[in-house]
Amino acid sequence: MIILRSRAEIEKIRTSCAIVAEILDELVVNIRPGVTTWDLNAISEDLTATKHAKPAFKGYNGYPFALCASVNEEVVHGMPSKKRRLKAGDIIGLDFGVVVDGYYGDAAVTVAVGAITEAAVNLCTVTEECLYEGIARAVSGNHLSDISHAIQDYVEKRGFSVVRDFVGHGIGQHLHESPQVPNYGPPGRGVKLKPGMVLAIEPMINAGSPEVEILEDEWTAVTLDRELSAHFEHTIAVTENGPLILTARKNQFTKLYG
Ligand code: MF3
Ligand code: CO
Repeated sequence: MIILRSRAEIEKIRTSCAIVAEILDELVVNIRPGVTTWDLNAISEDLTATKHAKPAFKGYNGYPFALCASVNEEVVHGMPSKKRRLKAGDIIGLDFGVVVDGYYGDAAVTVAVGAITEAAVNLCTVTEECLYEGIARAVSGNHLSDISHAIQDYVEKRGFSVVRDFVGHGIGQHLHESPQVPNYGPPGRGVKLKPGMVLAIEPMINAGSPEVEILEDEWTAVTLDRELSAHFEHTIAVTENGPLILTARKNQFTKLYG
């Protein structure tokens, strides 16, 4: 069952999403060589408390941190560590969520550490762009898989691959609600989109093969071929007037990479 959210509920989700966006913007300005993923998690926890929100991921299925920080070949669910010190040339996915007054927000960006290769810039660019291709299909009357198909088509035409093992999701009073939102598939399938649906769309795109494996820590997903992976995510609402990006960042147009 997919819950249709009222205007008032979407405003509550938007409150959480705005905090997520502010904290991601703040994390982005802290990305530089020498910073550890542990430091980034600590910053995210401090800011969350300052803004009277609660981290959405901490404690979720036993995940111990507020932030997922996935470096280079790490796809998603990278665990912050004092030993993971960023160096020039890395890319880092920052995935973050909060809950305020029972309503959730969730978003992710991938950021360059210093100068990165042209191949890495291309991967990040295509991953961010395919998210917007998907969002553009989040229109009342479209089918759910029109989003999925638009993402896959955009990515594969540019020579990259779509991770299958993780998907986007409905979001609202839980971090993960129905429906699942795959980043691949044929168009015209699944439910018809309706105003009030709130979705977290989150393509994870690999430079090489789409296969992933989970490390011994039981969380960190890495590419099987250890090539680079990038991840962008927005929480959006389907409205009468088209898709509304609830996690839009103030620094949306400052360069994250390249
Ligand atoms: N954005 C991710 C998701 O929706 C982050 C979840 S991490 C977890 O699945 F720790 F909460 F699982
Ligand atoms: Co998510």
